Amino acid sequence: PPYLNDLARAAGKLWFGSATDQPGTGEDTNILYQEILNDTDIFGQITPANDMKFFATEPEQNVFNFTGGQVAVDIAQDHGKYLRCHNLVWVSQLADWVTNGNWTAETLTAVMKNHIQTLIIHWGDACYSWDVVNEALASNGSFSSSIWYDVIGPEYFFLAYQFAQEAVEATGKDIKLFYNDYGIEDTGNKTQALYALIQEMQSRGIQIDGVGLESHFEVGATPSLETQIAAKQGYVALGLEVAMTELDIRFIEANATNSTGFAMQAQNYYDSVSSCVQVDGCIGVTVWDFDDQYSWIPGTFPGQGAADLYNADFTRKPAYYAVGEALQSV
Ligand code: G3I
Repeated sequence: PPYLNDLARAAGKLWFGSATDQPGTGEDTNILYQEILNDTDIFGQITPANDMKFFATEPEQNVFNFTGGQVAVDIAQDHGKYLRCHNLVWVSQLADWVTNGNWTAETLTAVMKNHIQTLIIHWGDACYSWDVVNEALASNGSFSSSIWYDVIGPEYFFLAYQFAQEAVEATGKDIKLFYNDYGIEDTGNKTQALYALIQEMQSRGIQIDGVGLESHFEVGATPSLETQIAAKQGYVALGLEVAMTELDIRFIEANATNSTGFAMQAQNYYDSVSSCVQVDGCIGVTVWDFDDQYSWIPGTFPGQGAADLYNADFTRKPAYYAVGEALQSV
């Protein structure tokens, strides 16, 4: 204890959850990892970190592989957890045949439609939600370059949600359609641009149910409680759900991982989780894995890390207990 998901539920949230990256990464054979992940008192939701992405699910054109993604579906179903499905349309982790293909707007749109609709229909309401488009915006709020944008143009974004909406309607189930990104957790330019984009979708009658705020923060440079609350309220005011989808708070200098540093990290976690607790419409918080030995940070930012709630040896950090406090803060 404290049991983070139980506390999140008591605070009126749907979950406290974690990303997980299995099979094949060592998480699946680590007994301590499994024990903690499977404990639904601690984690009531999971997100597969990689196995539902394009490269994994459609390695050859129109040849689908659901094996890795199904592992997450099974964990969620076996242990009574929610599942966030991640993701359908992104610049990264595409299959080579997409990246290297010789596409026209018409042929690539057909690829996008087939991918979106096949996955949504396959997993149905095993998915609470899908991140339909992931990380489409640059820091100034304009669309980023990607094969989707470069070949199809800005319409790709709206088409992706239309295709997703058709698929959801075909299932007859309630599956939420999310946009997921980083840099939209404060009230800056990117957030303002996203508010405008959501309004454009709504004026065109295109379904979007929620926004995922990744929340990859840095110790000592995490947006303030007030800022995080204000950003979330902006999405909720547009009628959307908000979720914190990839929370972790990394040290950018290894030598800062002393007791002062861990106390600051704990405070940053407290403020971040508290901002969700304090906003009705913020449905839950997901950490982007929970143990430092499985964090994505050191592989991407050499020299940085210690971003998760548990030390590599599965002992809990001050941040863990701070999250427990934050979940009881209202
Ligand atoms: O699949 C290969 C494997 O064959 C090879 O042996 C191994 C050796 O390095 O690499 C494997 O690919 C890795 C891939 O994950 C699948 O495991 C890549 O190196 C690695 O860079 C990749 O990292 C993932 C990253 O997305 C890619 O951008 C992380 O695990 C994953 O946690 C991370 O998740 C993203 C979210 O989807 C979106 N938001 C940001 C977040 C963090 O980057």
